Amino acid sequence: MDDNVKEKLEAIWPEVIGAVITKRDGKVNLCPINYQATSTIYETPLSICIGLGNTGYTLETILKTQQFTYAYPSREQLKDILYCGTVSGRDVDKLANTSLGFSNSETVESPLLKDAVLNYECVVRHSYNAGQFTIVIGEIKRVVGSNRSNLDKIYALGGTRYGVIKGMDILQEGRA
Ligand SMILES: Cc1cc2nc3c(=O)[nH]c(=O)nc-3n(C[C@H](O)[C@H](O)[C@H](O)COP(=O)(O)O)c2cc1C
Repeated sequence: MDDNVKEKLEAIWPEVIGAVITKRDGKVNLCPINYQATSTIYETPLSICIGLGNTGYTLETILKTQQFTYAYPSREQLKDILYCGTVSGRDVDKLANTSLGFSNSETVESPLLKDAVLNYECVVRHSYNAGQFTIVIGEIKRVVGSNRSNLDKIYALGGTRYGVIKGMDILQEGRA
């Protein structure tokens, strides 16, 4: 690894914040992540790839239950979502300390995050232990939209700054 990697990687921000939601022994848990990518609609199966630390409760639960829900939280949920990134569901009932709401999924046990911009219901297709973290590929069984704007999604901006993106400048329409 070359020098100043941390400084150079500042260029990667903003990165969208997603929420991995799991349910195990009746307890719901939520883990915010940046390490994620959704396939395009042209790929089958529609899928999501997430990177989870090997010591986290969320990875342990996903490998056990083989399912999860994934949400893009909205701007009003930022504080609660960041809190869920500071403690582990292994030690704490995180959600009891937040005002986040949930509703039932149709295809998996873990619930949907209410007031989120978008939710996916996912089953595990594959996992790959890459060292200190594991890449999980989930097949998206159901996409649940909302009336929230795309621009209500929340982003890590680098360091300990978090926010929203105000607008999009279209540079080109069409591919030619
Ligand atoms: C903005 C943000 C982004 C994060 N991104 C990731 C990530 O991509 N992968 C990961 O494993 N943890 C990530 N974390 C850390 C986890 O959310 C944190 O370790 C959490 O407490 C794990 O909870 P769990 O043990 O209940 O799974 C992130 C935290 C925050 C606040």
